[in-house]
Amino acid sequence: MTLTDSNLKIAVQKQGRLTEKSLELLEGIGLDFDFSKDQLFARCRNFDLDLLFLRDNDIPEYVQDGVCDLGIVGRNMVVEKRASVTAVQKLGFGNCRLAIAVPESSKITSWQDLEGSRIATTYPNSLEAFLLEKKIKAEVICISGSAEIAPSLNLSDAICDLVSSGNTLRINGLRELELVFESQAVLNETKASLPDPKRQLINRLLLRVSAVLKAQRTKYVLMNAPESALEKIKAIIPGLDSPTVVPLAKPGMIAVHSVVDEEEFWEVIEQLKEVGATSILVSPIEKLIA
Ligand code: PRP
Repeated sequence: MTLTDSNLKIAVQKQGRLTEKSLELLEGIGLDFDFSKDQLFARCRNFDLDLLFLRDNDIPEYVQDGVCDLGIVGRNMVVEKRASVTAVQKLGFGNCRLAIAVPESSKITSWQDLEGSRIATTYPNSLEAFLLEKKIKAEVICISGSAEIAPSLNLSDAICDLVSSGNTLRINGLRELELVFESQAVLNETKASLPDPKRQLINRLLLRVSAVLKAQRTKYVLMNAPESALEKIKAIIPGLDSPTVVPLAKPGMIAVHSVVDEEEFWEVIEQLKEVGATSILVSPIEKLIA
């Protein structure tokens, strides 16, 4: 099997923190493809798309140079590689932050104390930009991995690395000192000019991605309520455009169907109960196309 020029090409991290969720998303938008860890690319069986499985630090440049039309990669990598790509959609997974950390026992207690220190990192560009902005002179020690070990080996006084749960820092006796920036997985598009058929493929793909992401962020809510409570319910859940209202067999009672954002879900349910809603049924949404 070889790559086809006319097919859309999307880069996905081959092995790492974003791999599973990236593949889950692509399967969730209905793409049918095979993936195994030894594979470098896969042809999608039901969309004109080839998937390229790459190291995440190569993805920003591949997308920038138009080798791939799209790429799913952490914002951290795009910033570090200073890649010129268009971030088309934040994907809501792979949340982490680039942060500076020091040993628990360190006398360094704020970023100002980093003056004259040695900081080990696999993110030299991002760290240098941070130090420049803060007008701090420090020695940036570039390493290719496991930055957390550097202070114990007396290679550095601090590290600058990704933090997600914070477990790695804790296990290695390090304390977070300063945030450099926040990151999450992003769908990036090349800025290289694309022929119309490819642009149409991208638009179709983006519609699907956005439908799945919207569905993930929302719940479908059904409830019974006295008709007299309808205006208050409408004010609590404006819904997509407006809630669906169905009269019930019992006089003066209605069923209301609507969509609620995951973020405000519990507050909304509490308010609905307060205005008289009962038998509140909540279910997940598979796709939401506005
Ligand atoms: C990052 C980072 C830390 C770890 C932090 O590595 O380098 O080692 O995650 O995560 P935590 O706060 O949840 O413990 P990653 O898993 O991205 O792999 P890498 O070592 O290949 O960069």
